[in-house]
Amino acid sequence: MALPLTPEDPQVQAKIWNVFRDYFDLAEKKRRWNINDDIPWEKCNPGLDPAIADVVQTFCMIELFLPDYLSKQLPQVRGNKGRAWMLASWGYEEAKHSMVLNDWLLKGKHRTEEQIVDMENSVFEREWSLKYNDPLATVVYTMVQEVATRVNYRNLRKAANGRCPALDSVLEVIQIDEAAHGHFFRQLVSVYLEHDRAATLERIRMVLNSFTMPADHLLADGRQRVAKIKAMKIFDEGMFLNEVATPLLNQLGLTRADIRGPKVHAVR
Ligand SMILES: [Fe+2]
Ligand SMILES: [Fe+2]
Repeated sequence: MALPLTPEDPQVQAKIWNVFRDYFDLAEKKRRWNINDDIPWEKCNPGLDPAIADVVQTFCMIELFLPDYLSKQLPQVRGNKGRAWMLASWGYEEAKHSMVLNDWLLKGKHRTEEQIVDMENSVFEREWSLKYNDPLATVVYTMVQEVATRVNYRNLRKAANGRCPALDSVLEVIQIDEAAHGHFFRQLVSVYLEHDRAATLERIRMVLNSFTMPADHLLADGRQRVAKIKAMKIFDEGMFLNEVATPLLNQLGLTRADIRGPKVHAVR
């Protein structure tokens, strides 16, 4: 897609660096958690509905594509210190998500070591690719993805309904991280909107009109996994519209008219 690139002028870079430092300093002070110490592992409930454990596995698999998320995105922002340092920091936080989900699957006896190896092999056989060859579109996509991911974790937590206190705690800490990620990337999109409104609006329109959750095309059995997530009311088109796209537009001070039209829809 040959959209013009927004030039990364020094003022934009300085603003992004400040947003990152605020994000990082707050995370260090308030949001760090420890996989071994902060989850009540002794309260795992092996009797939990296997359908819940299956969705935990789906989310763990999506988190496991981390090497691709980092290795494909970093080159796009190598010259932008705030965005590059954020990817390093974000990568550390996302690494903990797959580890803690993996630990829950094992400690709760929902999966064996062998099944975990099979799960990882099936993930690493595939590769996540950048959806947009354009760093501005990528940051808009990441913003939407993070907010959608938070909604997914929040609703999985609701579905599990505290029946496994260890899982409840796992999903709580992850959800808080995902909310912080969404907030950070939204702040970046605001900086770009201020700097180059037309180019940024174009990317927002493009991303919102074609958004899909990664599980759909990324996992070998992605279609079935997405269907289960919809059936369990963890995430669907309506939630994308009402809890992701619309709030994001509001928070960015935008309306549908700003992104030209009614086409915002779609998670398939
Ligand atoms: Fe995550
Ligand atoms: Fe995240």
